Amino acid sequence: MRFPETFLWGCATSAYQIEGSPLADGAGPSIWERFAHTPGMMHNDDHGDIACDHYHRFRDDVKLMRDLGLTSYRFSIAWARILPAGTGAVNQKGLDFYRQLVDALREGGITPMATLYHWDLPEALDDRGGWLNRDSADWFAEYATTCFEALDDRVPLWVTLNEPWVVTDGGYLHGVLAPGHRSPYETARVTHHLMRAHGAAVQAYRAVGKHQIGLVVNLEPKYPASDRAEDRAATQRADAYMNRQYLDPALKGSYPPEMRDIFGDAWRDWPAADLEQIRQPIDFLGVNYYTRGLTAHDATAWPLRARTRRVPQATYTETDWEVYEQGLTDILTWVKQRYGDIPLYVTENGAAFYDPPVAAADGVHDPLRIDYLRRHLRAVHKAIAQGADVRGYYLWSLLDNLEWSLGFAKRFGIVHVNYETLQRTPKDSAKFYAEVIASHGESLSD
Ligand code: FCB
Repeated sequence: MRFPETFLWGCATSAYQIEGSPLADGAGPSIWERFAHTPGMMHNDDHGDIACDHYHRFRDDVKLMRDLGLTSYRFSIAWARILPAGTGAVNQKGLDFYRQLVDALREGGITPMATLYHWDLPEALDDRGGWLNRDSADWFAEYATTCFEALDDRVPLWVTLNEPWVVTDGGYLHGVLAPGHRSPYETARVTHHLMRAHGAAVQAYRAVGKHQIGLVVNLEPKYPASDRAEDRAATQRADAYMNRQYLDPALKGSYPPEMRDIFGDAWRDWPAADLEQIRQPIDFLGVNYYTRGLTAHDATAWPLRARTRRVPQATYTETDWEVYEQGLTDILTWVKQRYGDIPLYVTENGAAFYDPPVAAADGVHDPLRIDYLRRHLRAVHKAIAQGADVRGYYLWSLLDNLEWSLGFAKRFGIVHVNYETLQRTPKDSAKFYAEVIASHGESLSD
């Protein structure tokens, strides 16, 4: 079990989840700043004011990455650090922070992958309607261009959006993530504006950028819970909603036909020119994979009329996601079958399992996480053996961090963070991953 020599071994994080000091050095507030400080929205009233204090400790964190032997690191840029009001004036100190981070990575031989949007829209833009405003695509292209001009000389891999599905489903349909809205009409429109923003940023990159740009989606293969026709139809809807809703417009220039069935009159027929803008050639696709969906018809589940079935004999993580590594092989090969030979990265994969808040003197033993990682890394290798062009793997996550509205209680890191002292302790899974990297995957055969 050996991975290609050029395969990138990474970890992934995002700005609001690890940086802390969200308003430092002239940064503007984001929708997550507002959401996290709204009573009742966050588990335990947690927020990102300090988080992992990566904003001040990034050099130590890069040192941790070097110790692991990472060859790449995926992070996100906080839009409101760069453009505090979302558009207009540029905050040089915000750019300086990311330039220093990227320089530290490069000195350590670690290839940066920068995500432009990992959910932290500037609050000033939300006040102008946020993603509901059709102008949001232009705002995003302006911000993206600022980042490209400042950093493309040292960042070879760019991502426009992280997981547009989560932005719409969590942020605008169910209200459990910022900005906390609950409207199918808004959801349908935000989907389209996000995809236009993606297309606009890719167009902007072609004008000023010299390297590679792609999109990151979270995919969950959907399997029918039974052979019954209504379960199979529910599976199709679930697949359209989560997987094809974003990939079809980006790669084929159309939305799946099921969207109208799901959203009814909240779904619109968008102008052909918009779909042209969305379908820009991209250099790679990033796939975030955590679990699958064994899907059954359920008339009460709004608006999808489909529900994920619990599998009694399966292992579940702390976020209640079924451990199902075959789904990762399946989804990577499905992408190739449906969309053709596009270079792929697994841009997130990992698991929350319980770890104590304070690391013991002899370290943090996390055999369940190691088992999860071993199974999924083997599944990636299997997909490559079956012809998927997978060029790298980014483990979620380097550090325990703020798991959005679930707060600090869910630990995904391979490095433990003590939130009282901010001390970092590599878990056993960090040692496991370091061995995988050092052996190009051969240690996975053991
Ligand atoms: C993904 C997000 C990431 C993290 C993981 C667990 O959906 O992109 O920020 O929350 O889930």
